Amino acid sequence: MAVLIRGGTVVNADRAFCADVLCSGDKIVAVGENLEAPAGGTVIDAGGQYVMPGGIDTHTHMQLPFMGTVTADDFYTGTAAALAGGTTTIMDFVIPDPKQPLMEAFHTWRGWAKKAAADYTFHVAVTWWDESVHADMGTLVREHGVNSFKHFMAYKNAIMADDETLVKSFRRALELGAIPTVHAENGELVYQLQRELLAKGIRGPEAHPLSRPPAVEAEAANRAIAIAGVLGTPVYIVHVSCAESLEAIARARAHGQRVYGEALAGHLVIDDSVYNNPDPAYARAFVMSPPFRSSHHQTALWQGLQGGNLHTTATDHCTFCAEQKAAGADDFTRIPNGCGGVEERMAVVWDAGVNTGRLTPSEFVKVTSANAAQIFNIYPRKGVIQAGADADIVVWDPEATRTLSSATQHSKGGFNVFEGRTVRGVPTHTVAAGRVAYANGDLRAEEGAGRYVERPAFTATSAT
Ligand code: URP
Ligand code: ZN
Ligand code: ZN
Ligand code: ZN
Repeated sequence: MAVLIRGGTVVNADRAFCADVLCSGDKIVAVGENLEAPAGGTVIDAGGQYVMPGGIDTHTHMQLPFMGTVTADDFYTGTAAALAGGTTTIMDFVIPDPKQPLMEAFHTWRGWAKKAAADYTFHVAVTWWDESVHADMGTLVREHGVNSFKHFMAYKNAIMADDETLVKSFRRALELGAIPTVHAENGELVYQLQRELLAKGIRGPEAHPLSRPPAVEAEAANRAIAIAGVLGTPVYIVHVSCAESLEAIARARAHGQRVYGEALAGHLVIDDSVYNNPDPAYARAFVMSPPFRSSHHQTALWQGLQGGNLHTTATDHCTFCAEQKAAGADDFTRIPNGCGGVEERMAVVWDAGVNTGRLTPSEFVKVTSANAAQIFNIYPRKGVIQAGADADIVVWDPEATRTLSSATQHSKGGFNVFEGRTVRGVPTHTVAAGRVAYANGDLRAEEGAGRYVERPAFTATSAT
C-alpha cells in the first residue's frame, strides 16, 4: 500500500518546506519534489495545505476504571476519535489498584488496547510500593518498552502515591533510564478541603475548584520537582493548569534541572466560569482535576508553551456520560473526574495558538508531536516527516473551519467541552501507519489497526 501526499508544505519542528511525501507500507520512504505517483497507490492533493507529523496525545484514559465507573470511550472509539482530529498516537496509562502487581495491570491494559485503531503506548502508574514494584519496573523497562512511570499525588484513599513511594519510584526510574511523571496536586489538602466544603453544605460542582485551588497544585509540583532535584532525575509534570505550577517548572529549569511540563487543550481555552453554570449537569461535565482556571492562568500556560517551559499539549481524554457524572449529583467528590478532547486538541491548539500568532506552524508541531516524541524517546520514529519515520501524517487545511460539537464528534460520552467553538484550521486527511484513516470527513478507523509502541529506555545508570 502506497500513499503519495502531493503539493503541500511539509512542517517539521525545525523548518517548513514544499515537498511531496511518499509512504510505503507503514513508513515514509521519500520526502522531496516531484515524487512519482505509485502505481495503484493513493494520491492525496495537499495543495494549499500543511503536511505535519500526526499528533501525539501524551495523556489519555481510554476504558479507564475510575471512581466507581469506566470511561465512555474505549480504546477503539477513543483512538478513532483521535484519528478524526489528526492524532495518530496516544499515550495512555496503566493504573494498577493499590497492591495489584504492576505486571498484572500492564497485561490487562494491553488486552483492552488490542482494539485500538491508532498506535498507543503506556505510562505505568506506581500507586504503591514494595520490592515487587521495584522488580516489575525493571521488567517493564527492559522487556516491555515502558520508559515512563506515573505518580498521582492526588486521589487520597485510592491511587495516591505518598512521598516514600515517590522517592523510591523516582530513584528506581533513574536507575532504569525511565522518566517519572506526576499528577501534581496535594491529595491530603484536597481531601481536607473537600470535607470542609461538604460540612458547610456546599455539595454541588461549584465546590470542585474550591477544593483544588492553584496553591494545592503548586505545592505538589514544587515537591515533585524538589524530590527529582535531590535524586537527580528528570521529571515530567502532567496537566499543568496554573501559573504557580508553571513558575515552579520555570524556576527549576532556570537552575538547570530537567523538568518538563504538559498543558491540556482544555486548560488553555476553557475557564472556571463553567462550574457556576445554573445547570448542575452542565457544570458536572467539566469536573476534572486539576480544574479549569481563570483566564490569568490560561495566559500563563500559553506563555509557558511559547517560552519553552511547557513542552507538550495533551487532553487527559477521560470521558463520562451525564448518567455517570450524576453519581455525584448530591456530593461533588463523587463526580467522576474527567473530560474529553482527543479529537479536538489539534484544531483547538492551532486555532488558539497559530491563528493568534502565539505559535508558528513549526512550534505547533513541537508542542503537538515532536517534543512528545523526544521526551518519551520515540523520535525520529514519530514526531517528524522524514524518510524512515512512521507514516503518521496529518494533512491540514489552515483555512477550513469546523464548529466543534457533541452532535458531530466521534468520541463517546455525549458531551463536548469545546461545544460551539468554531476553529479555523482542521485536518482533511489523517494517515496512520501508512493507512488513510480519515479523509474529508470520512472516518475509516479500523479496529485493531493500532500498534503497541515500545519506547526504549534512556541511558540507564546502574540498574539491577
Ligand atoms: O480529572 C481527571 N484528570 N481525570 C483523569 C485522571 C487524572 O487525574 O489524570
Ligand atoms: Zn491527573
Ligand atoms: Zn489523566
Ligand atoms: Zn451512559
